[in-house]
Amino acid sequence: MSILTVDSIVAGYGETEVLHGVSIRVEAGESVTIFGPNGCGKSTLMKTIFGLLTPKRGRVNFEDADITGMPTESLIRMGMSYVPQTNNIFPSLTIQENLEMGAFVDGSNAEAQIAEMYRMFPDLERSRRQRASSLSGGQRQMLAFGRALMLEPRLLLLDEPSAGLSPIMTQLIFDRLYDIQQTGVAILIIEHNIRVALSMSNRGYVLANGENQLDGSAASLLDNPEIGRLYLGGAS
Ligand SMILES: Nc1ncnc2c1ncn2[C@@H]1O[C@H](COP(=O)(O)OP(=O)(O)OP(=O)(O)O)[C@@H](O)[C@H]1O
Ligand SMILES: [Mg+2]
Repeated sequence: MSILTVDSIVAGYGETEVLHGVSIRVEAGESVTIFGPNGCGKSTLMKTIFGLLTPKRGRVNFEDADITGMPTESLIRMGMSYVPQTNNIFPSLTIQENLEMGAFVDGSNAEAQIAEMYRMFPDLERSRRQRASSLSGGQRQMLAFGRALMLEPRLLLLDEPSAGLSPIMTQLIFDRLYDIQQTGVAILIIEHNIRVALSMSNRGYVLANGENQLDGSAASLLDNPEIGRLYLGGAS
């Protein structure tokens, strides 16, 4: 069963139309990567899914519910969580406080959830009383995941989780995302490190100029000569 169905979404900013009828689907428990050139509308699509932008046309379904234009807070309560491309933690708060802030929907279980996050991200426990601004780029991203997971989502949306990170840290981030997926959480990732992202994904979509360009299984996209030429730096 699909957990997320985006059907022919038209959206943009004011008069400017960025998405001209994009459609994607995420099955329950699946990991799906979206990629495409800078400015093609990937973040706009994710913001539209998460209720931060209202589409002009088209439909978004979360499981059986039509969530088109629904406010973000309702979507979080329904089981969706989002890690934006930038500003995804509070730098002046401690690690512990950042995680506590993540539990704002239902604080009753926060202590157990924070313990679970520290089990998953031991680095964070070691620096729990430090300000988040003291963390490395990779640790900050782990904290952003931790905050998003505090909401116990069934669908996790991630916008360029490896932005600014070294190749080694990028691999670690994707290893951790794979672990998260193994707990049954469906993941939709925007990523420019296509090879690393597709290696842990079930399927992928290529967007170009606000339209669907190509989609398929992760393996078929990695084997596609056109993708290799355009996005994987030559023959793959
Ligand atoms: N808040 C905004 N107001 C007006 N235009 C915007 C806004 N945000 C993005 N745009 C424009 O919409 C288009 C798509 O932007 P978007 O951020 O969705 O692209 P992207 O595929 O995520 O790019 P990148 O790979 O650089 O993150 C771009 O032309 C961008 O300039
Ligand atoms: Mg973007």
